[in-house]
Amino acid sequence: MTSSESTRKGHASDGATLPSARPQARGGTFSGVLPIVGAVVVLLLAFLFNTEPFQQAFNTAQTSASSDVSSTGTSDAFLAAVKTRRSIYTITSESPIPDDKVVQIVPTPSNTSRPPSTRSRPACAVVLFGDAHQKLWQIVLHTLKPKVSPEQYEMTEAKVTSSFAAGHGTVLFFEDSAPVTALQTAYPSYADKFPGWAQHTSGMLQFIVWTTLENEGLGASLQHYAPLITPQVLAAWGLPDTWELVAQMPFGTPSAPPGEKTFSPVEDRIKFSVYRRVSTAWDAWRSPDRSARSFEIEKSCGQI
Ligand SMILES: Cc1cc2nc3c(=O)[nH]c(=O)nc-3n(C[C@H](O)[C@H](O)[C@H](O)COP(=O)(O)O)c2cc1C
Repeated sequence: MTSSESTRKGHASDGATLPSARPQARGGTFSGVLPIVGAVVVLLLAFLFNTEPFQQAFNTAQTSASSDVSSTGTSDAFLAAVKTRRSIYTITSESPIPDDKVVQIVPTPSNTSRPPSTRSRPACAVVLFGDAHQKLWQIVLHTLKPKVSPEQYEMTEAKVTSSFAAGHGTVLFFEDSAPVTALQTAYPSYADKFPGWAQHTSGMLQFIVWTTLENEGLGASLQHYAPLITPQVLAAWGLPDTWELVAQMPFGTPSAPPGEKTFSPVEDRIKFSVYRRVSTAWDAWRSPDRSARSFEIEKSCGQI
């Protein structure tokens, strides 16, 4: 056997085994072909990425992924409740739910199931039922009478008697200035913002309570007789003098549907923009401008 024959058979001329001898012989063949095959595959993929059908398919996949509005949770039920909430002025003293349930809905200071941290927040509420509810609306009438014209008082009295006092109860919303002052001291850079944010907090609470009461079959409206009645209300129920009355929400069983609601064109009121990635990764990669290598953006305006 010649030395070359010995090497092809995987043995050294001294008889020792050379495990890599045969693979090396094969690798020699493939090592020449593989880079060519790889380059062809890369070129084919690059060509494919850049073809119109691929880009269309990619864009469709991106668009359908981002515009899939099928519900994955309870948002449909929530949005239906938001849509159903209205100002209901024709209410009776009945309630389809127990008072305890109302108290549970409204996070009052006496609702001890709430953690202490949430009790120290600026939005507070008190629920009045029965005589307390009647007393509130008497306070409103007594306070307003000497302050408004007889004609105005007559209109207010008719509204209070036939609507608000006719209900089952009233939720009082307050803003507690004590935690607001503490936050202003702790974060002086935002000191002038905290009172406004406290009002936002109360507004969000009002909206949640209003929508939830109506979701439970009650009707409610939002009234504002503060600050005129604030001192009398704090005195009547022994509330802290750091509490500022923000709003009153009389509620009861609706005895008539709400009035027709008209809207100005939605496009005049609300606009939003949708940004979607529309180009392929290949487009981004081949862009000569580094800053443009992020995906291109499609902007579309719409309305809700
Ligand atoms: C912040 C805020 C304050 C309101 N204040 C009063 C009010 O003092 N008296 C009243 O009768 N309605 C009040 N409303 C009710 C609005 O007039 C009512 O929400 C609006 O006409 C839309 O009707 P809807 O509640 O049936 O959707 C208030 C509503 C909001 C959001």
